[in-house]
Amino acid sequence: MNSAAADKEPLDIPPVPSWWNRRHLLDTESLSVEEITAILDTADQFKQVTDQGRQTLSVLSNQIVANVFFEDSTRTRTSFGLAARRLGAQVVEFSASSSSLSKGETLIDTAKTIEAMQVDLMVVRHRTPGTPQLLAQNVDCALINAGDGPHEHPTQGGSQEGLTIALVGDINHSRTARSNIWALKKLGAHVIVCGPSTLVSPLWESLGVEVSYDFDEVVPRCDVLNLLRIQFERQYTRPFPSVREYALLYAMNKERMKRAKDDILIMAPGPINRGVEITPDVADGPHSVILDQVTNGIAVRMAVLWLIAHPGADPQGGD
Ligand code: CP
Repeated sequence: MNSAAADKEPLDIPPVPSWWNRRHLLDTESLSVEEITAILDTADQFKQVTDQGRQTLSVLSNQIVANVFFEDSTRTRTSFGLAARRLGAQVVEFSASSSSLSKGETLIDTAKTIEAMQVDLMVVRHRTPGTPQLLAQNVDCALINAGDGPHEHPTQGGSQEGLTIALVGDINHSRTARSNIWALKKLGAHVIVCGPSTLVSPLWESLGVEVSYDFDEVVPRCDVLNLLRIQFERQYTRPFPSVREYALLYAMNKERMKRAKDDILIMAPGPINRGVEITPDVADGPHSVILDQVTNGIAVRMAVLWLIAHPGADPQGGD
C-alpha cells in the first residue's frame, strides 16, 4: 500500500505499530507477547470494521497474495482467501495436485515460479514440518505458515488470557496444539494437555503445561475445552484399540457436559470428527463456539496479512 492509498482509508483502519518489523509469520513460538497482542488487537479492529457492513477495504489493493497449498484445507485456505480479498488484495490459488510438481518440479522451483509472477505474499501449507521456513529462505516475498505437518499453525492459535484451557486428543501430532500452547502460555493461561498416553507425551510438561490422562478429572476445572481431531494421517501405528474406546474415555459428550462449568466454552480447530472427539449434541450445542472460531479466524488472518504486508516492515526483521 502506498501512502496515497492510506490517506483515502477511513480512520478506523488499525495502524501498524511503529515497532512492527516481522516479515514472515512462521510460528507462534518466536512471537513476543507484544506481537501476539498486536495481532489480536488488530483482528478485533478489523472485525469491528467488517461487522459494520463494510466487507471490502482497499488497503492491500496493490498486493497479490498466493494461497500455496500442498495439503488439503477447508477453513484455512478459504479464510485466507476471504481475508485477503476483504483487504482489497488479488488472490491466486495454487493446488499441488494440479501443478507441475507431478512433472518433477521441485518445491523451491515451484515457489520461485509463483513469486516470479509478482506475488507479494505467500500463504503456505505443507505436510512436512519446516517447509514454510525453507521457502522463506529461498524467496523474497513475505510468507505465512498455514500449517506445516505437526509443527505449527500460527493463525489457529488461542488467546484465552488467564483461563484454564484443556487441549484434548491427539496432542503429539497436532500443529494447532503447539501453536496454541506457545500463545496461551505467553498470555498467562493455565494449559492442560489431555488424552491417551500414546498421544500425549509426558515431555509436553517441558513447555510448562499440565499433562493429564484423566479427562473426567480435567473437565470440571476448565473454562475452555479445545477438542482436537485424531490425526490418523500423521500416525505410523494405531494409538488405541478402537475409536469406540477412545470416545468412551475422551469424547466430550452430554454426560461430561453435566460436570463442566456452567459457562464452559467448547472449541475445536476443525475439521471435527463427530462421535470421536465430540458428540453432535455438544458440537452443535449452546456452549460450542466452533463456528464462531471460523468467523473470527477471518479477522485474525486479515490482521496477519495487514501487519505482514505493511511496507513499513523492516525486510531484515522477524524471522
Ligand atoms: N483447522 C484447520 O487448519 O482446518 P483446515 O485443514 O480445514 O484448513
